[in-house]
Amino acid sequence: MLADKDRIFTNLYGFQPWNLDAAQARGDWDGTAALMARGQDQIIEDVKASGLRGRGGAGFPTGMKWSFMPKAPTPERPNFLVVNADESEPGSCKDREIIRHDPHKLIEGALIAGFAMRARAAYIYIRGEYIREAEVLQAAVDEAYAAGLLGKNALKSGYDYDVFVHRGAGAYICGEETAMLESLEGKKGQPRLKPPFPAGAGLYGCPTTVNNVESIAVVPTILRRGPAWFAAIGNPKNEGTKLFQISGHVEKPCVVEEAMGIPFRELIEKHCGGIRGGWDNLLAVIPGGSSVPLVPAAEIMDAPMDFDGLKALGSGLGTAAVIVMDKSTDIVKAISRLSYFYKHESCGQCTPCREGTGWMWRVMERLRTGDAAVGEIDMLYDLTKQVEGHTICALGDAAAWPIQGLIKHFRPEIERRIAGNGGQYAEAAE
Ligand SMILES: Cc1cc2nc3c(=O)[nH]c(=O)nc-3n(C[C@H](O)[C@H](O)[C@H](O)COP(=O)(O)O)c2cc1C
Ligand code: SF4
Repeated sequence: MLADKDRIFTNLYGFQPWNLDAAQARGDWDGTAALMARGQDQIIEDVKASGLRGRGGAGFPTGMKWSFMPKAPTPERPNFLVVNADESEPGSCKDREIIRHDPHKLIEGALIAGFAMRARAAYIYIRGEYIREAEVLQAAVDEAYAAGLLGKNALKSGYDYDVFVHRGAGAYICGEETAMLESLEGKKGQPRLKPPFPAGAGLYGCPTTVNNVESIAVVPTILRRGPAWFAAIGNPKNEGTKLFQISGHVEKPCVVEEAMGIPFRELIEKHCGGIRGGWDNLLAVIPGGSSVPLVPAAEIMDAPMDFDGLKALGSGLGTAAVIVMDKSTDIVKAISRLSYFYKHESCGQCTPCREGTGWMWRVMERLRTGDAAVGEIDMLYDLTKQVEGHTICALGDAAAWPIQGLIKHFRPEIERRIAGNGGQYAEAAE
């Protein structure tokens, strides 16, 4: 279990004010100019050495991503940092806690990260429904400007740096990094074909890096305490602390900062008061937000909650939004509901996703009620394989994986429903 002294987010629950004075009393903005004076390349090296992997879902190494940015941007073609605060993945609710209770961690991180990447400005793209959070964030940015921490000659470092807060309008797809850039430019939020990657041509065609809120907010503490401190927490290649968001059938759902790799059972026992109805009542867990395949109870119990540990189980850490389902759950209905979500949120640009998400949902609904033939289970599986990997962005994969997980682990339950309906559709499918 993570020791209190190793916690980065010391005001996660908002017991203290979010404002600049309180943030400084907690250690934020302490010696920031000196951290910057270490130099841009050194900061990138330190972030690499810390082992930090992106907290937005894919787990790409953060320092390496920063190193892709041009080292000598021109005034006509500046570098930009975009902070992804869209947080629309079902189950995810950690960036919200950072923004409403500890916004200065994010703003200080945005300055240091932007400086390291030679960026001219940061755009923080926050989901539209986060109304109060956006207000807090804007007020914190205003405080930082008033105190000379941002703007021209920020912190008297000689570096000019602006931070803009931009509110989204409520589309899940705008969390995808290139759709976010389109949306920031005032266009419909639809993902771009890659390449070119954002580090080559991003916002307004300029080199851009998109990072998740948590990835950026942990950077000042990593630099202050040293990359070795961060790297010593967690497991190899899965280092550091992580905000877990546990929802569903636990006694006390919560957001908590823990060491990466904490075993599932320990996470739930220590912070959530256990599984509702006891451990024998656990059915399955979606460990990383709705886009990752579920893991059945027996397999997740002692699994390490990190990128590689969950990959080994055929799932993923994603955003570490842990959705716990006990035996009262209608698992087919639960996954079908997720299929509906992806159908609704598909931007419609590419055919496998536009047509496939609706098709998958319609079959899922029939499997839910049992009005299907057994052969349709394999047909649905084939369909997910035709969507997966054949689309412009990862929303197609995100729609396919939960269904694949369901079929892999709960096929007998689906077959039971069909048999319960008399199997009257069996012939039609032969
Ligand atoms: C459909 C879709 C939605 C996404 N939504 C989010 C989101 O809300 N927040 C986020 O940080 N990343 C989201 N991502 C991942 C981003 O595209 C991007 O990988 C991430 O912001 C990179 O940050 P990181 O390197 O710090 O993890 C989403 C990706 C997809 C395909
Ligand atoms: S995969 Fe879906 S959401 Fe992504 S670009 Fe294609 S149609 Fe749009």
